Amino acid sequence: MVKCFSLIIALSLLVASAIGKEVISGESDGDFIIRQVVDGGGVNGASNGDDLLLGAEHHFSVFKQKFGKSYASKEEHDHRFRVFKANLKRAQRHQALDPSATHGVTQFSDLTPSEFRRSFLGLRSRRLGLPEDANKAPILPTDGLPADFDWRDKGAVTEVKNQGSCGSCWSFSATGALEGANFLATGKLVSLSEQQLVDCDHECDPEEKGSCDSGCNGGLMNSAFEYTLKSGGLMKEQDYPYTGTDRGTCKFDKSKIAASVANFSVVSLDEEQIAANLVKNGPLAVAINAVFMQTYIRGVSCPYICSRHLDHGVLLVGYGSEGYAPIRMKDKPYWIIKNSWGANWGENGYYKICRGRNICGVDSMVSTVAAVHTAAN
Ligand SMILES: *[C@@H]1O[C@H](CO)[C@@H](O)[C@H](O)[C@H]1NC(C)=O
Repeated sequence: MVKCFSLIIALSLLVASAIGKEVISGESDGDFIIRQVVDGGGVNGASNGDDLLLGAEHHFSVFKQKFGKSYASKEEHDHRFRVFKANLKRAQRHQALDPSATHGVTQFSDLTPSEFRRSFLGLRSRRLGLPEDANKAPILPTDGLPADFDWRDKGAVTEVKNQGSCGSCWSFSATGALEGANFLATGKLVSLSEQQLVDCDHECDPEEKGSCDSGCNGGLMNSAFEYTLKSGGLMKEQDYPYTGTDRGTCKFDKSKIAASVANFSVVSLDEEQIAANLVKNGPLAVAINAVFMQTYIRGVSCPYICSRHLDHGVLLVGYGSEGYAPIRMKDKPYWIIKNSWGANWGENGYYKICRGRNICGVDSMVSTVAAVHTAAN
């Protein structure tokens, strides 16, 4: 009887200590985020063991300083602080769901998820309809693909750009792919104009009425390739610089075309085909669900759960397979993704996402483009 009773006590103690552990690891996630805030924020000596939200005020002031944030009114400030606190908790949840990456405070930590989606993404909802000139990429042989591959090492990728507060991701994804293809066609790396796409490309989905590329309100990479094919090409970034708004008129000057589309194709969902197309044709325009990217700091993102609803356009530039810690992912390689939120976001502007199982829909909408050699420079 006594034995049994003490066994029950022992069991409940075990349970309690397990719960205790979880609470403690939750707290250390909090410290983890504190470290992120402090990293590069120039503030030392964050109080260890502070409850995440008790320290929130301090984190918020570091955040404001680090990212140069200021708010017009006390009301706005208090609202942003509430959003910030919710995002600290969100980053903590993301950390638990995505242990092989580091999540924490980013420049987007004072935005609600819907503000973030509206202003910093910009992929129009995924459709199956394709522009009339899209091809299906031929199936390529996949044996002999290198274990690691990175177009940055080959000089085919321009510097990380910044779309600003404009849902124009699709235009950056499209220029990135054409920049790479143009490099392969001409041997020259030329930065191309997103603003031309934002201002001039209103290409519509032939199968979905009213679904057209629309500047800061979103677009699709395949439609951007269709526009570029029809218009003759894209101008250089420096001849048609990015403004981050879509209120201007189209200033396309045909005599200044720097790169032209020969053709573009959709790549099958097969990961080996994606890798083979990447290696053969240059960086690929891909779509992704960006929910984990709002809190991403570094590492290989491999969330246990991630929606495949596509809301962001990015550029696939390579893949790797270096080992990283969690046993679950031991031999799983990753994709290297160029983003358009500036070099201060993520790993110098880049994102790593594990390769396998179409995580966050990364394999769902992949396009390759080929460039023609143009005489204009
Ligand atoms: C696309 O254009 C490139 C370069 O001109 C050519 O080599 C390739 O065969 C074309 N692909 C398709 C699918 O037409």
